[in-house]
Amino acid sequence: MRKPIIIGNWKMNKLQQDAKELAKELIPLVQGSLADCAVCVPYTDLICVKEVLANTKIGVGAQNAHWADNGAFTGEVSPAMLEEIGISYCVIGHSERRQYFGETDKTVNMRTAAVIKHNITAIVCVGELLEEREEGKTENVLRKQITEGFKNFSEDDFKKIIIAYEPVWAIGTGKTATAEDANATILFIRNTIKELFGENVSQNLRILYGGSMNTKNVDELMSMPEIDGGLIGGASLKAADFARIVNYR
Ligand code: 13P
Repeated sequence: MRKPIIIGNWKMNKLQQDAKELAKELIPLVQGSLADCAVCVPYTDLICVKEVLANTKIGVGAQNAHWADNGAFTGEVSPAMLEEIGISYCVIGHSERRQYFGETDKTVNMRTAAVIKHNITAIVCVGELLEEREEGKTENVLRKQITEGFKNFSEDDFKKIIIAYEPVWAIGTGKTATAEDANATILFIRNTIKELFGENVSQNLRILYGGSMNTKNVDELMSMPEIDGGLIGGASLKAADFARIVNYR
């Protein structure tokens, strides 16, 4: 059985003082949750949030990592650096990085391979643009992102991978995919994984939904059999809202 996980993606929000307060507020609120839980925070918040969340059930993640251990890559942070400070998760290939920072399936592949080598669970994001959905290209887009993003990966590698399906048109827009659509698309992703990496990987892999997931729609989304959790942007910035999502019913 796949254990659900709800992950907050704080994106480029929260100075350290606010970050520590939000993390502290969350601890008692999510203590009894059945789902796993983590927050992916800006680099400058990693150490202080990690300190606040030490010995709690809330994991701490970054939002990107380079593929090399070190070198002349100005502005980048390596997986070795994240491992050194005890980081457990890292978002890779978020659509905002694909759209604004030239992230490709090839760089997603390299970053993911490097991160898992350093014992960090990669949260690999896939998803189609609005025009791709409207032109009926969703499945082709996802198939390409998966085939190229996980090229040369082994069954074992998937023990350190979570996929987040985030339709780009649903991110920060208030538009959510219907629970049925999200479930069907995630089933397509799972079947593609099965085709490429086998039944075992596909059955054990956690696949999350992301895109305007909030306190109002979480219960319905989480009732779907293929949806193993959520990657939450805006609604993860308020403790009460994020906790309600983690404690979905
Ligand atoms: P919103 O929840 O703000 O739509 O963001 C989703 C997202 O991009 C999470 O990674």
